[in-house]
Amino acid sequence: MPDLNMHPASSSVDAVDRAPASSRHLRLLVYGAGVIGTIFAARMHEAGHDVSLLARGERLTALREHGVLLAEGDSPDIRQVPVPVIESPAGRYDLIAVFVRTHQVDAVLESIAGLDCDVLFALNWAAGPEPLAAAIGRERVLLGYPAVAGTMDGEVVRYRPSSLLTRLVRMPIGEPDGRTTPRLERIVQSFQSAGINAKAEPRMDAWLKTHAAFEVPLGRAVRAAGGPAALAGDPDAIRNMIRLMRQNLEGMPARPVPRGFDALRTVPERVLVAVFRRFLHSSAAAPLGTASPAVSAELDRMAEQVRALASARQPTFVVTHRRR
Ligand SMILES: NC(=O)c1ccc[n+]([C@@H]2O[C@H](COP(=O)([O-])OP(=O)(O)OC[C@H]3O[C@@H](n4cnc5c(N)ncnc54)[C@H](OP(=O)(O)O)[C@@H]3O)[C@@H](O)[C@H]2O)c1
Repeated sequence: MPDLNMHPASSSVDAVDRAPASSRHLRLLVYGAGVIGTIFAARMHEAGHDVSLLARGERLTALREHGVLLAEGDSPDIRQVPVPVIESPAGRYDLIAVFVRTHQVDAVLESIAGLDCDVLFALNWAAGPEPLAAAIGRERVLLGYPAVAGTMDGEVVRYRPSSLLTRLVRMPIGEPDGRTTPRLERIVQSFQSAGINAKAEPRMDAWLKTHAAFEVPLGRAVRAAGGPAALAGDPDAIRNMIRLMRQNLEGMPARPVPRGFDALRTVPERVLVAVFRRFLHSSAAAPLGTASPAVSAELDRMAEQVRALASARQPTFVVTHRRR
């Protein structure tokens, strides 16, 4: 681990002041102790919720040895947050929040199938709620997507510094059928009480599909180029990426959600190239530079899910005449 200033979470006193009303107090299992799970678990713990963070392998060993360590951006100040870490689910929970990679979901489904509580899948997922519902029961499934971002630096999770832009980005959470239910409202309120900018999204499934249509070409182009800055310097590669995004959006079962993604189809290509180049040079694009087998495997699984959506839209040809 780098030799940096480390101190226990200084915000713990504030956190008690901000503790949610007991009606919104959650017994929460955070499944997956990577970048997002760690940030999320720490925020919810600091806000007074009863959080357990489930980890495995080397990450579990590191968390048992050092605890949860967080830093903003490349700051040398590291906060230690005393989130309880566990190896397997134990006890009763109000909610399980799953933050793993797309290709890792199947194993998680097996492990939580026997637990009796709501499950929020807050990750890249374009296969719809059906496979999740088939494994754990339709009534348990909620969908979402994390609004925070970060990278792993040894044992330290470095989260993206807050800016005007990041404060505008909200964490969408929704019921698979789009209803606004009391449980959805409770979850959104509990997350908000921890400073997580959550909102109820009535078209969460379409949101996730749109996001995958965009993210797969972007993630693959960044990896092929060797990082966000390298891609920014290659307008031809950006043009190809935009064409793949357009193709993916054409294959979607519904209009893009949020509607802003329609711009990928309507705005002239040269304008989009300029916008992407600017974004790829910005610090907001830094997490895209993470190169790991898990990122590649996730992109491959998402690409399969996007292809399945497109092939489901292909017209089927029916023979309408008979031979005499
Ligand atoms: N990182 C970002 O900035 C960011 C931003 C927005 C959205 N997202 C999305 O959010 C989701 C989570 O991303 P992430 O960055 O947190 O991923 P990550 O850093 O790769 O973390 C996933 C964690 O889950 C663990 N895990 C997987 N399967 C498990 C199992 N069966 N039991 C126990 N632990 C298990 C992994 O352990 P192993 O390492 O042992 O596999 C890893 O520690 C992904 O869909 C990602 O694309 C990420």
